[in-house]
Amino acid sequence: MASKWWSSEDVAVVTGANKGIGYEIARLLAEAGFRVIVTARNPELGAAALEKLKGLPSISDPSALGFERLDISDKASIEAFKAQLEARHPGRLVVLVNNAGVAFKGDVFGAEECKATIDTNFRGTADACEALAPLLAEGRGRIINVSSGAGDLSRIPGAALRAQFESPVDRPQLEALADKFVADIKAGSYKAEGWPASMYGISKALETAYTRVLAKQLEGRGIMVNAVCPGWCATDMSSWGGPRTAAQGADTPVWLATLPPPGVDGGELVTGAFWRDRQRIPF
Ligand SMILES: NC(=O)c1ccc[n+]([C@@H]2O[C@H](COP(=O)([O-])OP(=O)(O)OC[C@H]3O[C@@H](n4cnc5c(N)ncnc54)[C@H](OP(=O)(O)O)[C@@H]3O)[C@@H](O)[C@H]2O)c1
Repeated sequence: MASKWWSSEDVAVVTGANKGIGYEIARLLAEAGFRVIVTARNPELGAAALEKLKGLPSISDPSALGFERLDISDKASIEAFKAQLEARHPGRLVVLVNNAGVAFKGDVFGAEECKATIDTNFRGTADACEALAPLLAEGRGRIINVSSGAGDLSRIPGAALRAQFESPVDRPQLEALADKFVADIKAGSYKAEGWPASMYGISKALETAYTRVLAKQLEGRGIMVNAVCPGWCATDMSSWGGPRTAAQGADTPVWLATLPPPGVDGGELVTGAFWRDRQRIPF
């Protein structure tokens, strides 16, 4: 881990931290000495995760952990969370890990399900970023979006479509692509239009592409914005099928969260990239 440039008052927020990779990210950030806000859409599950974390012998200061409700698919929930954060920890937000995500299990494939997947993984993540980015500390703040290699652009058969993901201009362009995918599934033309049969894959391709758009927007404030593939991890989402543990999946997001900021300890503005196993990977 990088030499410690953060203080115990610096806040790290993790979405979807009640279980899986998000829980492990929250644990590692708390062990590293951040003031961690565990967030979850379900308050009971969030509170239970908080208690579990506070009871770990590896957590030296359990009082530095807190819980707030945050449903990223609900703009009112995002705004309420933002207001709490501003009131309780003014000027202290340094790390935002957008980990929350959904995936339908089995062979589910349809326009409605696709919209629901995109609404959380892309739109919910983007909404959380847009609301909370203004609170991030200039020169030190960072956003880490837990995306997926399932959104690798090589999996999009249509070259013209792929090109739009490769050089995204702004969020509205990505919104239009998301709407087109849903409409093409509804019309039965998605294959002819060059899309793969993966709702989750496209939702994550949108999330990674959005990460690049946001990185450019926040560059001037010295804020790093990166996407990560945690690898295939044994969690509820993968039906406990992956070869990695959730803790292994949490390693690269936490590594990005603790990279030295520009100008500190040889740190540079590391932004707009896609990572796995602490290495840049193509997108
Ligand atoms: N596991 C893998 O192999 C793998 C591979 C690549 C990428 N990923 C990505 O890694 C991230 C974490 O996945 P995981 O494997 O840890 O899955 P998981 O165990 O199913 O956890 C997902 C978390 O996201 C939360 N969530 C879902 N919708 C939400 C919303 N609208 N608002 C707030 N929280 C919400 C869930 O809350 P509930 O408990 O309330 O449902 C849960 O806490 C996801 O973004 C996933 O796409 C996972």
